[in-house]
Formats: sequence, structure tokens, C-alpha cells
Amino acid sequence: MENIHPIFDKILSRNDKELFLNQNAKVLWFTGLSGSGKSTIAQHLEKKLFSEGFFVQLLDGDNIRSGINNNLGFSLEDRNENIRRISEVSKLFLNAGVICLNSFVSPTIEIRNAAKQIIGSEDFIEVFVNTPIEICEARDVKGLYKKARAGEIKGFTGIDSPYEAPPNPDIDVKTENQTIEESVDQIYQAIIAQLQKQ
Ligand code: ADX
Repeated sequence: MENIHPIFDKILSRNDKELFLNQNAKVLWFTGLSGSGKSTIAQHLEKKLFSEGFFVQLLDGDNIRSGINNNLGFSLEDRNENIRRISEVSKLFLNAGVICLNSFVSPTIEIRNAAKQIIGSEDFIEVFVNTPIEICEARDVKGLYKKARAGEIKGFTGIDSPYEAPPNPDIDVKTENQTIEESVDQIYQAIIAQLQKQ
């Protein structure tokens, strides 16, 4: 940091951008097993918010891992680095006034706490996409559980790599008992007041 001279105080402020966009920026952090429905719910919510005039950006595991994080794998160390970079990127979006919908397995309490610390607890809304592993595995949309069971993928979350459920999420979405629309609506109702500028 010795020869680094940040100019945060000289650029337009987050508040300027939020006023321009007429919204409060937040990060909705979706966590859950692979195949739990995080990305699907986030996609529907993104469209709904956008159609109502909110300026939103969806960040998704598979997308980010094919670009900025394409040098990372699935060891705990790499997952930590994955989430650290994503959290820093989210902070840039926040400072541009943008509402982020972040869809990442983010499997441990420590990883999510680190994200919350970088982003700031007042801007971090934790959404637990709470789908039992039996259901994720039965759906197996990407065929990855089958590969993991066959030993073709090592260190797969929920099979031979841990997933720690959030003990106290801001929003707990029990997808097995509701439709996608109901899940989206549950989250929407919980956050809408926080996104609107008074
Ligand atoms: S995280 O653990 O670092 O947060 P991330 O959300 O970026 O994971 O990526 C998870 C996605 O990568 C899964 O939805 C799945 O498609 C794919 N994937 C490939 N290998 C693994 C693995 N070993 N564990 C979990 N997901 C994997």
C-alpha cells in the first residue's frame, strides 16, 4: 500500500449515484447448495426489480468463474478467494449505486462473514435458499451430483465438501414448499422498502 494513493474522496459519491438512480443500493447475497434454486430465483427477481425501474446487476457463480475468477477451483482456499474478489466487485457496484443480486454457494459461515465484512453489514442481506440436499440431488439440473457420487468430481459441496447453513439468515426461503414466484415474492416483500428512496 506504500505507494498507493486512493482518490475515493475525489470521485462522485455513492449518494450522488443513488440519487441519480432513485434507489438505495444493497447486496442480496444468495447462499445455498448447488441446484438449490439460487440463480433461478435471482434471475426472476432481477427481472421483476428491473421492470419496476430498479437498476440491478446479477452476479452468478458460473458466470464469474468463466471470467474474472477463471483461475480458481473449488478448494476451500480458492472458494475464499472467489468470494473475496466477488465481494470487492460488489462494493464497486454498491458505490455506483447498483443493487447486486449475488448467487454463490458460499459454503461456510466464515466465507459469508468475510463477504459481509468487505461489503459492510448494513448493505449485506443474506438470503438462504434453503433446499434440502435430497431435493437438489434429485433435480440434478447440471448432472453434477451424479458425477460427484461417481467420484468424477472431488470436493463437491454437500457430498464431500461442507455446506454450513446460515444460522440466522435475513431471509430464509424454503423452496420445497413454494413455487419460484412465491419465493421471489417472499424476498421482494422483505427488501422492497429498503431499496426505495424515501
Ligand atoms: S463457491 O463455493 O466458490 O461459492 P460458486 O458459487 O462460485 O462456488 O460455484 C458453484 C458452481 O460451480 C455450482 O453451481 C456448480 O455448477 C459448479 N461446481 C463445479 N464444481 C463444484 C464443486 N466441487 N462444488 C460446488 N460447485 C461446483
